[in-house]
Amino acid sequence: MNPVVIAIPVVVILAAVLLFGALRRRDTGGATGALSRETRKRDQSAAPGPESETTQVSGRQVEKSAALERRTPEIVPAAATTLTEFVPPDADAIGVTRRAFFNRSIIILMGLGLSGFGAAIIAFLWPVPKGGFGSKIRVGNVDDVLAKIAAAKGFLYSAEGRMWLTAYPPGAVDKAKAVYPPAVLGGMEAGVVALYQKCPHLGCRVPSCATSQWFECPCHGSQYNQAGEKKGGPAPRGMDRFAMEVTAGVLTVNTGQIIQGPPIGTNTTGQEAEGPHCVGGGH
Ligand code: FES
Repeated sequence: MNPVVIAIPVVVILAAVLLFGALRRRDTGGATGALSRETRKRDQSAAPGPESETTQVSGRQVEKSAALERRTPEIVPAAATTLTEFVPPDADAIGVTRRAFFNRSIIILMGLGLSGFGAAIIAFLWPVPKGGFGSKIRVGNVDDVLAKIAAAKGFLYSAEGRMWLTAYPPGAVDKAKAVYPPAVLGGMEAGVVALYQKCPHLGCRVPSCATSQWFECPCHGSQYNQAGEKKGGPAPRGMDRFAMEVTAGVLTVNTGQIIQGPPIGTNTTGQEAEGPHCVGGGH
């Protein structure tokens, strides 16, 4: 017979015997080795009386008593415990909890957001001091204004008021009274006209023409004299103008009050073109 065939069962049997023996040792060692210190001390302190000399204690009994001792909870007499009233911990003593931190952070962030939103609304609604176009513009002393117009060769431009300032001849005031409303007559009597730069035809900005000394619109060729009275082109009327007032020799133009230009055919100054036209040719 092959020796390997014999050796295999022998090895299996030996392995089984060794495994069984090891398990048994472990079981016994666990039973005896798990005794508590108190149990062992009690066993040692127990005086060996005449009974103990004659009584034989088996390992199984020792194991049983140890297991019972482990399972039996220690009973504490009720009288030994003292009940005290619950006192909540001091928040300052324990510091800020995570929940309190998040709650406070949310409140602070919401407060900041609402404050910024409120400040933006207030800034939006806060009245802003007005100036420039649409408001009353203090142009200055009438004599100074007339001097500036003359220095600008008849046409003083104000970007702030989007207007032209020209001189109005004193000898034409009587004719003007028959055509123009009181809102502009005060300034005309002082010798000044304040004309809106916007062409009454289709709204182009009307420039002055240095050669003709008129206003001539480059868009469709409408022409106006220095008083803004229509002289030619498709415009439906003369140039619109602003209300004026003169107080203590100081001229103020109200760019928020536009007075419609005079009708076609108005010619209070009788000013004709003084040179070649800038738009449309001819004289
Ligand atoms: S817009 Fe000035 S003439 Fe047409």
